[in-house]
Amino acid sequence: MILEIKTKRLILRSWRESDLEPFAQMNADPKVMEYFPSVMSREESDQLAKKMQSKIEETGYGFLAVSIPNVSDFIGFLGLNSIDKTTCPVHFSPAIEIGWRLESRYWGKGYATEGAIACLRYAFETLGLSEIVSFTAEQNIPSRTVMSKIGMQYDPKGDFDHPKLPEGHRLKKSVLYRLSLAKWKELNEAGKYSCDV
Ligand SMILES: CC(C)(COP(=O)(O)OP(=O)(O)OC[C@H]1O[C@@H](n2cnc3c(N)ncnc32)[C@H](O)[C@@H]1OP(=O)(O)O)[C@@H](O)C(=O)NCCC(=O)NCCS
Repeated sequence: MILEIKTKRLILRSWRESDLEPFAQMNADPKVMEYFPSVMSREESDQLAKKMQSKIEETGYGFLAVSIPNVSDFIGFLGLNSIDKTTCPVHFSPAIEIGWRLESRYWGKGYATEGAIACLRYAFETLGLSEIVSFTAEQNIPSRTVMSKIGMQYDPKGDFDHPKLPEGHRLKKSVLYRLSLAKWKELNEAGKYSCDV
């Protein structure tokens, strides 16, 4: 399945074989993986890319590879992902999350915000979803900043302990952000998303 979302500066697209090498390098970078339990091996990284592409083919959405035309064919991934009680037993599943991971040399240029805004539009206008969630470790301020910048609202009652991490792990405490279709429409009509994509 060919899925492509274009923004002013980015192309979000299905995965290619040539993404595997730069994806593995990104996943082996401790700076990028600061808010994950560990960096990933080449094998784990390849498996993750294949899983992401399979989910795109199954559902028509997923975590997409990100290119910047004339700059780099691969800078990371960004997109939507379905979570269910079996793979992710959290209080808000089943749900569809929005998420991102970019190579550190491309941080701080507004790329995550720009791509995420386009994914929200795809979620609400094309897929007709009623809510998008996002979650991360409490300390992950860069990611939480992107969530706030795209209009997601922190749900303090939604704080949870990450089910896949052991008690006492530094990343166990997680935060939940939500964006409903109604709130997205309100922000969209107020022009919040018009100049970023
Ligand atoms: C989260 C991530 C995708 C953000 O990418 P990005 O392209 O830098 O994001 P943007 O430039 O669109 O916005 C980042 C915002 O966070 C702010 N920010 C970044 N680091 C910050 C920090 N330590 N404290 C406060 N704000 C911070 C930036 O200033 C920017 O806001 P601004 O545009 O108002 O200045 C990137 O940091 C990343 O890939 N991190 C590693 C993977 C990860 O943790 N993914 C999320 C897992 S849930």
